[in-house]
Amino acid sequence: MRSPMGAAELAELVARLPKAELHLHIEGTFEPELMFAIAARNRVRLPYASVEEVRAAYAFSNLQDFLDLYYAGASVLVEARDFHDLTWSYLTRAHADNVRHAEIFFDPQTHTGRGVPFATVMDGISSALDEAEARLGLSSRLIMCFLRHLDEAEAFDTLDAAAPFLDRIDGVGLDSSERGHPPRKFREVFGRARAAGLSAVAHAGEEGPPEYVREALELLDVVRIDHGNAAVEDDDLVAELVRRRMPLTVCPLSNVRLRVVSGMRDHPLGRMLDLGLLVTVNSDDPAYFGGYVNDNYVAVAEAVGLDREDLVRLARNSFEASWLDASRKSELLAEVESAARNP
Ligand code: ADE
Ligand code: ZN
Repeated sequence: MRSPMGAAELAELVARLPKAELHLHIEGTFEPELMFAIAARNRVRLPYASVEEVRAAYAFSNLQDFLDLYYAGASVLVEARDFHDLTWSYLTRAHADNVRHAEIFFDPQTHTGRGVPFATVMDGISSALDEAEARLGLSSRLIMCFLRHLDEAEAFDTLDAAAPFLDRIDGVGLDSSERGHPPRKFREVFGRARAAGLSAVAHAGEEGPPEYVREALELLDVVRIDHGNAAVEDDDLVAELVRRRMPLTVCPLSNVRLRVVSGMRDHPLGRMLDLGLLVTVNSDDPAYFGGYVNDNYVAVAEAVGLDREDLVRLARNSFEASWLDASRKSELLAEVESAARNP
């Protein structure tokens, strides 16, 4: 039995807990104010008259609706400093939420497809990551996603383009339109990426079926599943995920905004915890979905009635599921325990 917390106590605990964020698309942190500022300095026209008009457009019926706007917004990013400013802006916001470590997705094909050199994207993002480590003590990893609506040959080209930067890239991921683009489509390129020393993750079971989660595990050899909501429909799959202690990076506000769930009260996070799944809470594309990571913890906890123990467990899971080395991981886990004990 859970004993849910009062609103003030809940917000205070969430703010106090150190956290890792493991499912965050840097292009999805593009707040309209920064989008307009960068568009102006690059002399790129946006199809909106104001910041308010952009925000008013953020009413999505499904994943594709959102992706159309997300790719349009990203098109104003041209120079390395644009990628730097975008990344820095997220990292300072995450720091304010007591995020101590972030594992960040970027979508190189969204930029190289418009003629932006891979090196420009890398320079901008990695200079901001370095600055956050030095100035904020916020560590990070970088995950290069392949766009699954494109073909595998293009993913191979992207992996080739990434070769000079593999010292700065920790993993590969799979994102964009899920239905009709199963993990098996990318089996070979994931094999090549893993052979190059990269860890693999994949979005699966967001809009797609449990079968896509199984394919990600068995064919892509992933070390985490991004979203994974559909897994709860399949008892055998849940048992396998629990047996492997396979992390799921769940994104509650995203799921509501993209109508993966009919409302926050129907979110499966509480059930996932009860099933023994290694779930984590993340913001996905916070500029588009109405909240950063703490907002996600609070919104889902309030709606499904999570208690203090659940919240501490979610913070603990975020570090357990991270790619931090063992000693930093145990340091941060100790900080979670001490934050949990000392109000
Ligand atoms: N790209 C950015 N956010 C995404 C999401 N939630 N699902 C798939 N692709 C994405
Ligand atoms: Zn995502």
